[in-house]
Amino acid sequence: MAAEEVKTESGVTRRQFIVSWVGLSWAAFIASVLAMLGTWLRYFYPRVLFEPPQTFKAGFPMDYGLGVDERWKNKHRVWIVRDEGGFYAIYAQCTHLGCTPNWLAMEQKFKCPCHGSGFYMSGINFEGPAPRPLERCKIWLAEDGQIAIDKSIRFRYEKGEWSKPEAYLPMPYTG
Ligand code: FES
Repeated sequence: MAAEEVKTESGVTRRQFIVSWVGLSWAAFIASVLAMLGTWLRYFYPRVLFEPPQTFKAGFPMDYGLGVDERWKNKHRVWIVRDEGGFYAIYAQCTHLGCTPNWLAMEQKFKCPCHGSGFYMSGINFEGPAPRPLERCKIWLAEDGQIAIDKSIRFRYEKGEWSKPEAYLPMPYTG
């Protein structure tokens, strides 16, 4: 006759107790192996950064009056400025520490709310700590006749880049 198994206070036999601990240990081991495998597999997948599009169409030239147009500032962080000869696009990021300036129409200047830098309508800095002018974006006339902007291509005044053809769109001939 087999010896009767000794039960613990909770009514579990020693054998059941050992089997349950072995099972738990295996479960923990498998879980950690799967976690490591997941980390290892993740290594082989590229990390994709989803950014909003950098290029956008900004309507037709005749939709613009002279001066600073703010309609794209909130969505695209760009001002489009029309002067006597054509258009340029200013990226609305202060060159001090990156805040978004405001256009003050009464004073005809861009003013940064963070530390007070001021910029003329051209984008050139004239007051406050900003070390250089605002940057201009690539601008051109799309095939459908609309103004197109590429924010990923910027031009810096201090490098002489504002004179590049892509930094300024002459007023197109409208017939
Ligand atoms: S971030 Fe614009 S003045 Fe400092």
